[in-house]
Amino acid sequence: MSFKGKTAWITGASSGIGEALAGALLEEGAFVILSGRRVDELKRVSERHGNATLIHPFEAADFAVIDDMAKRALDWRGGIDLLVNNAGISQRSLAVDTKFDVYRRIVDIDLLAPIALTQAVLPSMVERKSGHIAAVSSVAGKVGAPLRTAYCAAKHGVTGYFDALRAEVETAYGIKVTTIFPGSVRTAVAANALNADGTVRGVSDVNIDNGIPADVAAAQILAGLNAGEREIVVAEGVEAGALELRRADPATLFAFTAAEGARLAAARAEGQGPEPAKVNT
Ligand SMILES: NC(=O)c1ccc[n+]([C@@H]2O[C@H](COP(=O)([O-])OP(=O)(O)OC[C@H]3O[C@@H](n4cnc5c(N)ncnc54)[C@H](OP(=O)(O)O)[C@@H]3O)[C@@H](O)[C@H]2O)c1
Repeated sequence: MSFKGKTAWITGASSGIGEALAGALLEEGAFVILSGRRVDELKRVSERHGNATLIHPFEAADFAVIDDMAKRALDWRGGIDLLVNNAGISQRSLAVDTKFDVYRRIVDIDLLAPIALTQAVLPSMVERKSGHIAAVSSVAGKVGAPLRTAYCAAKHGVTGYFDALRAEVETAYGIKVTTIFPGSVRTAVAANALNADGTVRGVSDVNIDNGIPADVAAAQILAGLNAGEREIVVAEGVEAGALELRRADPATLFAFTAAEGARLAAARAEGQGPEPAKVNT
Protein backbone atom coordinates (compact mmCIF):
# COMPACT_ATOMS: atom_id res chain seq x y z
CA MET A 1 0.00 0.00 0.00
CA SER A 2 1.30 3.45 -0.89
CA PHE A 3 0.99 6.39 1.49
CA LYS A 4 0.00 8.78 -1.34
CA GLY A 5 -2.68 11.13 0.00
CA LYS A 6 -2.32 9.67 3.52
CA THR A 7 -1.28 11.56 6.66
CA ALA A 8 1.90 10.48 8.43
CA TRP A 9 3.36 11.79 11.71
CA ILE A 10 7.10 11.37 12.15
CA THR A 11 8.96 12.22 15.35
CA GLY A 12 12.65 13.03 15.10
CA ALA A 13 12.04 14.50 11.64
CA SER A 14 14.68 17.22 12.06
CA SER A 15 17.63 14.98 11.14
CA GLY A 16 18.92 11.55 10.23
CA ILE A 17 16.54 8.65 9.64
CA GLY A 18 13.41 10.68 10.45
CA GLU A 19 14.33 13.48 8.04
CA ALA A 20 15.09 10.99 5.26
CA LEU A 21 11.88 9.04 5.87
CA ALA A 22 9.85 12.27 5.87
CA GLY A 23 11.40 13.12 2.49
CA ALA A 24 10.62 9.67 1.09
CA LEU A 25 7.00 9.82 2.29
CA LEU A 26 6.55 13.32 0.87
CA GLU A 27 7.96 12.17 -2.47
CA GLU A 28 5.41 9.35 -2.39
CA GLY A 29 2.65 11.96 -2.01
CA ALA A 30 1.92 11.75 1.71
CA PHE A 31 1.11 14.68 4.00
CA VAL A 32 3.65 14.68 6.81
CA ILE A 33 3.62 16.08 10.34
CA LEU A 34 7.20 16.86 11.39
CA SER A 35 8.13 16.70 15.08
CA GLY A 36 11.37 17.29 16.96
CA ARG A 37 12.74 20.01 19.22
CA ARG A 38 14.67 22.15 16.71
CA VAL A 39 12.12 24.32 14.90
CA ASP A 40 14.71 25.72 12.44
CA GLU A 41 15.66 22.21 11.33
CA LEU A 42 11.99 21.19 10.99
CA LYS A 43 11.44 24.34 8.87
CA ARG A 44 14.44 23.40 6.70
CA VAL A 45 12.95 19.94 6.09
CA SER A 46 9.51 21.43 5.45
CA GLU A 47 10.75 24.09 3.00
CA ARG A 48 12.18 21.39 0.75
CA HIS A 49 8.70 19.94 0.27
CA GLY A 50 6.18 22.84 0.11
CA ASN A 51 2.89 22.88 1.95
CA ALA A 52 2.37 19.15 2.45
CA THR A 53 3.88 19.38 5.93
CA LEU A 54 2.83 20.53 9.39
CA ILE A 55 5.66 21.67 11.67
CA HIS A 56 4.72 20.36 15.08
CA PRO A 57 7.66 20.79 17.49
CA PHE A 58 7.86 18.91 20.79
CA GLU A 59 10.11 17.81 23.61
CA ALA A 60 9.50 14.06 23.62
CA ALA A 61 9.79 13.77 27.40
CA ASP A 62 7.26 16.55 28.11
CA PHE A 63 4.46 14.08 28.76
CA ALA A 64 2.04 16.76 29.99
CA VAL A 65 1.59 18.14 26.46
CA ILE A 66 1.33 14.87 24.54
CA ASP A 67 -2.48 14.60 24.51
CA ASP A 68 -2.85 18.19 23.31
CA MET A 69 -0.16 17.65 20.65
CA ALA A 70 -1.91 14.52 19.43
CA LYS A 71 -5.24 16.34 19.22
CA ARG A 72 -3.71 19.09 17.05
CA ALA A 73 -2.01 16.49 14.85
CA LEU A 74 -5.25 14.53 14.44
CA ASP A 75 -7.18 17.75 13.65
CA TRP A 76 -4.77 18.83 10.87
CA ARG A 77 -6.27 16.50 8.25
CA GLY A 78 -8.92 14.63 10.19
CA GLY A 79 -6.80 11.69 11.35
CA ILE A 80 -3.41 10.02 11.34
CA ASP A 81 -2.86 7.10 8.96
CA LEU A 82 0.77 6.44 9.93
CA LEU A 83 2.57 7.29 13.16
CA VAL A 84 6.35 6.75 13.13
CA ASN A 85 7.91 6.91 16.61
CA ASN A 86 11.46 7.65 15.51
CA ALA A 87 12.89 10.32 17.87
CA GLY A 88 15.59 8.91 20.08
CA ILE A 89 18.99 9.31 21.70
CA SER A 90 21.74 6.79 22.30
CA GLN A 91 24.38 6.24 24.99
CA ARG A 92 28.13 5.64 25.16
CA SER A 93 29.01 4.76 28.76
CA LEU A 94 29.69 1.73 30.93
CA ALA A 95 27.00 0.86 33.50
CA VAL A 96 29.50 1.06 36.37
CA ASP A 97 30.09 4.75 35.61
CA THR A 98 26.61 5.83 34.49
CA LYS A 99 24.41 8.12 36.60
CA PHE A 100 20.83 7.03 37.21
CA ASP A 101 19.56 10.28 35.63
CA VAL A 102 21.01 9.09 32.31
CA TYR A 103 18.86 5.95 32.54
CA ARG A 104 15.81 8.06 33.30
CA ARG A 105 16.41 10.47 30.40
CA ILE A 106 17.04 7.73 27.82
CA VAL A 107 14.07 5.62 28.96
CA ASP A 108 11.85 8.75 28.89
CA ILE A 109 12.81 9.70 25.34
CA ASP A 110 13.31 6.27 23.75
CA LEU A 111 10.58 4.23 25.46
CA LEU A 112 8.00 6.24 27.41
CA ALA A 113 7.61 8.96 24.76
CA PRO A 114 6.74 6.45 21.98
CA ILE A 115 4.31 4.75 24.38
CA ALA A 116 2.69 8.08 25.33
CA LEU A 117 2.33 9.21 21.72
CA THR A 118 0.98 5.85 20.61
CA GLN A 119 -1.54 5.76 23.47
CA ALA A 120 -2.69 9.26 22.45
CA VAL A 121 -3.24 8.33 18.79
CA LEU A 122 -4.48 4.75 19.26
CA PRO A 123 -8.12 5.46 20.24
CA SER A 124 -8.75 7.30 16.94
CA MET A 125 -7.28 4.38 14.96
CA VAL A 126 -9.33 1.85 16.95
CA GLU A 127 -12.45 3.91 16.22
CA ARG A 128 -11.68 4.01 12.48
CA LYS A 129 -10.54 0.38 12.48
CA SER A 130 -7.49 1.35 10.43
CA GLY A 131 -4.05 2.86 10.76
CA HIS A 132 -0.39 1.99 10.95
CA ILE A 133 1.91 2.54 13.94
CA ALA A 134 5.68 2.14 13.56
CA ALA A 135 8.54 2.48 16.02
CA VAL A 136 12.26 2.70 15.42
CA SER A 137 13.87 0.27 17.84
CA SER A 138 17.44 -0.85 17.01
CA VAL A 139 19.60 -3.93 16.74
CA ALA A 140 20.11 -2.91 20.40
CA GLY A 141 16.41 -3.69 20.85
CA LYS A 142 17.21 -7.38 20.47
CA VAL A 143 20.93 -7.60 21.29
CA GLY A 144 22.58 -6.39 24.51
CA ALA A 145 25.74 -4.50 23.55
CA PRO A 146 28.33 -2.87 25.85
CA LEU A 147 28.20 0.89 26.51
CA ARG A 148 24.44 0.84 26.01
CA THR A 149 22.71 -0.52 29.14
CA ALA A 150 20.18 2.34 29.19
CA TYR A 151 19.72 2.37 25.41
CA CYS A 152 19.33 -1.42 25.22
CA ALA A 153 16.84 -1.38 28.11
CA ALA A 154 14.75 1.27 26.35
CA LYS A 155 14.97 -0.28 22.88
CA HIS A 156 14.19 -3.81 24.18
CA GLY A 157 11.19 -2.13 25.84
CA VAL A 158 10.17 -0.67 22.47
CA THR A 159 10.37 -4.13 20.92
CA GLY A 160 8.22 -5.60 23.70
CA TYR A 161 5.58 -2.85 23.81
CA PHE A 162 5.02 -2.85 20.05
CA ASP A 163 4.99 -6.68 19.80
CA ALA A 164 2.34 -6.78 22.52
CA LEU A 165 0.39 -3.90 20.94
CA ARG A 166 0.40 -5.72 17.59
CA ALA A 167 -1.09 -8.76 19.26
CA GLU A 168 -3.95 -6.60 20.56
CA VAL A 169 -4.80 -4.52 17.48
CA GLU A 170 -3.71 -6.30 14.29
CA THR A 171 -6.56 -8.78 13.88
CA ALA A 172 -9.02 -7.10 16.26
CA TYR A 173 -8.97 -3.67 14.53
CA GLY A 174 -6.93 -4.04 11.34
CA ILE A 175 -4.21 -1.71 12.68
CA LYS A 176 -0.70 -2.50 11.43
CA VAL A 177 2.25 -2.32 13.87
CA THR A 178 5.81 -2.27 12.52
CA THR A 179 9.02 -2.33 14.53
CA ILE A 180 12.20 -1.17 12.79
CA PHE A 181 15.66 -2.50 13.70
CA PRO A 182 18.51 -0.39 12.26
CA GLY A 183 22.16 -1.30 12.66
CA SER A 184 24.62 1.50 11.94
CA VAL A 185 23.05 4.28 9.87
CA ARG A 186 25.06 7.38 9.01
CA THR A 187 23.39 10.06 11.18
CA ALA A 188 24.18 12.25 14.18
CA VAL A 189 23.09 9.48 16.61
CA ALA A 190 26.57 8.81 18.05
CA ALA A 191 27.44 12.51 18.37
CA ASN A 192 24.11 13.09 20.16
CA ALA A 193 24.59 10.10 22.50
CA LEU A 194 24.87 10.71 26.26
CA ASN A 195 28.03 10.14 28.31
CA ALA A 196 28.04 8.60 31.81
CA ASP A 197 27.35 11.97 33.43
CA GLY A 198 24.55 12.93 31.01
CA THR A 199 26.62 15.31 28.88
CA VAL A 200 26.28 15.01 25.12
CA ARG A 201 29.14 13.04 23.57
CA GLY A 202 29.68 15.49 20.71
CA VAL A 203 31.76 13.19 18.49
CA SER A 204 30.70 10.42 16.16
CA ASP A 205 31.77 6.74 15.88
CA VAL A 206 33.67 5.26 12.98
CA ASN A 207 30.96 2.58 12.66
CA ILE A 208 28.20 5.18 12.37
CA ASP A 209 30.27 7.28 9.93
CA ASN A 210 30.69 4.17 7.75
CA GLY A 211 27.07 3.10 8.23
CA ILE A 212 24.20 2.78 5.78
CA PRO A 213 23.33 6.22 4.29
CA ALA A 214 20.15 7.62 5.86
CA ASP A 215 18.33 7.89 2.51
CA VAL A 216 19.09 4.24 1.73
CA ALA A 217 17.80 3.24 5.19
CA ALA A 218 14.68 5.37 4.66
CA ALA A 219 13.98 3.72 1.29
CA GLN A 220 14.21 0.27 2.91
CA ILE A 221 11.96 1.38 5.76
CA LEU A 222 9.35 2.88 3.41
CA ALA A 223 9.34 -0.28 1.27
CA GLY A 224 8.75 -2.35 4.42
CA LEU A 225 5.99 -0.04 5.62
CA ASN A 226 4.33 -0.15 2.19
CA ALA A 227 4.46 -3.94 2.33
CA GLY A 228 2.92 -3.90 5.85
CA GLU A 229 5.85 -5.80 7.34
CA ARG A 230 5.77 -6.41 11.10
CA GLU A 231 9.55 -6.11 11.44
CA ILE A 232 12.00 -4.23 9.22
CA VAL A 233 15.72 -4.92 9.68
CA VAL A 234 18.06 -2.26 8.23
CA ALA A 235 21.43 -3.77 9.08
CA GLU A 236 24.39 -5.44 7.46
CA GLY A 237 27.69 -7.09 8.45
CA VAL A 238 28.35 -7.84 12.12
CA GLU A 239 25.09 -6.22 13.25
CA ALA A 240 22.89 -8.32 10.96
CA GLY A 241 24.95 -11.31 12.15
CA ALA A 242 24.36 -10.40 15.80
CA LEU A 243 20.59 -10.43 15.28
CA GLU A 244 20.83 -13.86 13.67
CA LEU A 245 23.11 -15.19 16.47
CA ARG A 246 20.76 -13.88 19.18
CA ARG A 247 18.09 -16.20 17.76
CA ALA A 248 20.14 -19.17 16.56
CA ASP A 249 23.21 -19.32 18.83
CA PRO A 250 22.96 -16.92 21.79
CA ALA A 251 25.95 -18.50 23.61
CA THR A 252 28.27 -17.44 20.78
CA LEU A 253 26.80 -13.94 20.78
CA PHE A 254 27.17 -13.62 24.57
CA ALA A 255 30.83 -14.73 24.33
CA PHE A 256 31.45 -12.12 21.63
CA THR A 257 29.80 -9.25 23.54
CA ALA A 258 31.55 -10.32 26.80
CA ALA A 259 34.91 -10.10 25.03
CA GLU A 260 33.96 -6.59 23.93
CA GLY A 261 32.99 -5.75 27.51
CA ALA A 262 36.33 -7.08 28.80
CA ARG A 263 38.23 -4.97 26.25
CA LEU A 264 36.32 -1.86 27.35
CA ALA A 265 36.88 -2.67 31.06
CA ALA A 266 40.63 -3.02 30.42
CA ALA A 267 40.66 0.36 28.66
CA ARG A 268 38.77 1.86 31.62
CA ALA A 269 41.35 0.42 34.05
CA GLU A 270 44.04 2.20 32.03
CA GLY A 271 42.10 5.45 32.30
CA GLN A 272 40.86 5.49 28.70
CA GLY A 273 37.35 6.63 27.81
CA PRO A 274 34.78 4.46 26.04
CA GLU A 275 35.71 3.45 22.49
CA PRO A 276 33.23 2.31 19.86
CA ALA A 277 32.07 -1.27 20.33
CA LYS A 278 31.97 -3.59 17.32
CA VAL A 279 28.21 -4.06 17.55
CA ASN A 280 27.10 -0.49 17.07
CA THR A 281 23.66 1.02 17.20
N1 LIG B 1 21.69 5.87 13.26
C1 LIG B 1 21.78 4.64 13.73
O1 LIG B 1 22.79 3.94 13.52
C2 LIG B 1 20.64 4.06 14.51
C3 LIG B 1 20.69 2.70 14.79
C4 LIG B 1 19.64 2.12 15.50
C5 LIG B 1 18.57 2.89 15.90
N2 LIG B 1 18.55 4.22 15.62
C6 LIG B 1 17.40 5.00 16.07
O2 LIG B 1 16.90 5.76 15.01
C7 LIG B 1 16.19 6.89 15.53
C8 LIG B 1 16.61 8.13 14.78
O3 LIG B 1 17.98 8.43 15.11
P1 LIG B 1 19.01 8.99 14.04
O4 LIG B 1 20.00 7.93 13.83
O5 LIG B 1 18.32 9.58 12.87
O6 LIG B 1 19.74 10.09 14.94
P2 LIG B 1 19.70 11.70 14.92
O7 LIG B 1 20.17 12.21 13.62
O8 LIG B 1 20.41 12.10 16.16
O9 LIG B 1 18.16 12.04 15.05
C9 LIG B 1 17.47 11.93 16.26
C10 LIG B 1 16.15 12.66 16.12
O10 LIG B 1 15.43 12.52 17.37
C11 LIG B 1 15.00 13.81 17.80
N3 LIG B 1 15.04 13.90 19.25
C12 LIG B 1 16.07 13.54 20.07
N4 LIG B 1 15.77 13.85 21.34
C13 LIG B 1 14.53 14.41 21.33
C14 LIG B 1 13.68 14.94 22.33
N5 LIG B 1 14.05 14.97 23.63
N6 LIG B 1 12.47 15.44 21.96
C15 LIG B 1 12.10 15.42 20.68
N7 LIG B 1 12.86 14.95 19.67
C16 LIG B 1 14.06 14.44 20.00
C17 LIG B 1 16.00 14.80 17.19
O11 LIG B 1 15.39 16.04 16.98
P3 LIG B 1 15.77 17.38 17.80
O12 LIG B 1 17.22 17.34 18.11
O13 LIG B 1 15.36 18.45 16.85
O14 LIG B 1 14.90 17.32 18.99
C18 LIG B 1 16.32 14.14 15.85
O15 LIG B 1 15.40 14.54 14.86
C19 LIG B 1 16.48 6.91 17.03
O16 LIG B 1 15.40 6.35 17.74
C20 LIG B 1 17.70 6.02 17.15
O17 LIG B 1 17.80 5.41 18.43
C21 LIG B 1 19.56 4.81 14.94
